[in-house]
Amino acid sequence: MAGRKLQAPRGTFDVLPDDGAARRELYRRAGSVLGRYGYRPFETPVFEDTDLFARGVGESTDIVRKEMFTFEDRGGRSLTLRPEGTAGVCRAYVEHGMHKLPQPVKVWYWGPFFRHERAQAGRYRQFSQVGTEALGSDDPTLDAESILLLAELLEAAGVREVRLRLASLGGIEARAAYLDRLRGFLREREGELSEDVRDRIDSNPLRAFDADHPGTRAAMEGAPRLLDHLAPDDAEHFAEVRALLDGAGLSYDVDPTLVRGLDYYTRTVFEFESARLGAQSGVGGGGRYDGLVEQLGGPATPGVGWAAGIERILLAGDGKLGGFPAPVYVALAGGDRRAAFALATALREAGVRTELEQAGRSLKGQLKHADRLGAKAVAIVGEEIEWKDMATGEQRPVNNVAEAVRIAVGLDA
Ligand code: HAM
Repeated sequence: MAGRKLQAPRGTFDVLPDDGAARRELYRRAGSVLGRYGYRPFETPVFEDTDLFARGVGESTDIVRKEMFTFEDRGGRSLTLRPEGTAGVCRAYVEHGMHKLPQPVKVWYWGPFFRHERAQAGRYRQFSQVGTEALGSDDPTLDAESILLLAELLEAAGVREVRLRLASLGGIEARAAYLDRLRGFLREREGELSEDVRDRIDSNPLRAFDADHPGTRAAMEGAPRLLDHLAPDDAEHFAEVRALLDGAGLSYDVDPTLVRGLDYYTRTVFEFESARLGAQSGVGGGGRYDGLVEQLGGPATPGVGWAAGIERILLAGDGKLGGFPAPVYVALAGGDRRAAFALATALREAGVRTELEQAGRSLKGQLKHADRLGAKAVAIVGEEIEWKDMATGEQRPVNNVAEAVRIAVGLDA
């Protein structure tokens, strides 16, 4: 009996070979930019204790309230598929005593993340992020450097029509005082606000800046702005970050309404958007989180970082993240399969990307297929080996495997 056709779960997707090649190329380019800035690769588990995200990301965030994939393991322990990477990196920093290493510790990661969101173009339930974290210094050059790094990475990935929004949330104390002021402002206007915003006046009043609800938006026009209430040292830190970005020639919009969906931010926050993305315009974002490591049980440690969505980078990109170099195609023309196989193996060992006829096509069919694959040459194995240059169409006999390999390597050089 034929089985029922199965589909990937809602909000997930398969990476088909064309996309696979682009992702691999993006990984290569990202690694090269990140390496130049002194970041080293880092990996944490795909699932963690649920408590890490509840404490790290914040109980009042959408992510923790309604988007986590949480499950019990066989021992009854609550685990969660990671919705973001910063909490896990901070957990690992504390667990491995990395505050004893020379500071700052600069790491980057790439991998799958999970959020139970309403699926649409650019928004998935399993997606991938590339991200960085720099722990152990509150130097403003680190903020500026991580922003520049993301700008450079997006540029290298071919993402265009980019806008950078920048703000500062200040330090914890000044922010607390400001939040009280904002709560007062919201309470005076409770009737105009959406239910969701009203319910979170106590726990997360900043979200009101992010609301789509028209009444809330109108009410928020007159709201006090955090940027106008920064403590002097936070204001100075922000001015320095801006000066460094100005010096580097990176343009940005200071946006006092910028709110990020995670609770751990302090001081600098930023988000890159691309006009090519439509509704889900955020391609990458991050900021400083100077209290997070301590909140997770570690020593007081400042940190700054960002993450960008791989799928959104590819959607906003120019589609030129090509795959592999053009292959040499080994065709069979009545010759013997073992000789063709040996030639393909010799070419591959010499570093040449090689495809071998494996579907029983006629010679004409093989040449057509080689053309479709974009092959730069076809080695036709018959009584002897013929070499056909696909660019010129010229065909000539070669003496042996070694000569064929020499020609192919020469084409790559
Ligand atoms: P985030 O803004 O929540 O930040 O996510 C970063 C990026 O991940 C977004 O800009 C977007 O490109 C991508 N992304 C998020 N959710 C989805 C989704 N459902 N589908 C597709 N792409 C998505 C963070 O995650 C922070 N951990 C960044 C950070 C690092 N802050 C400091 N260090």
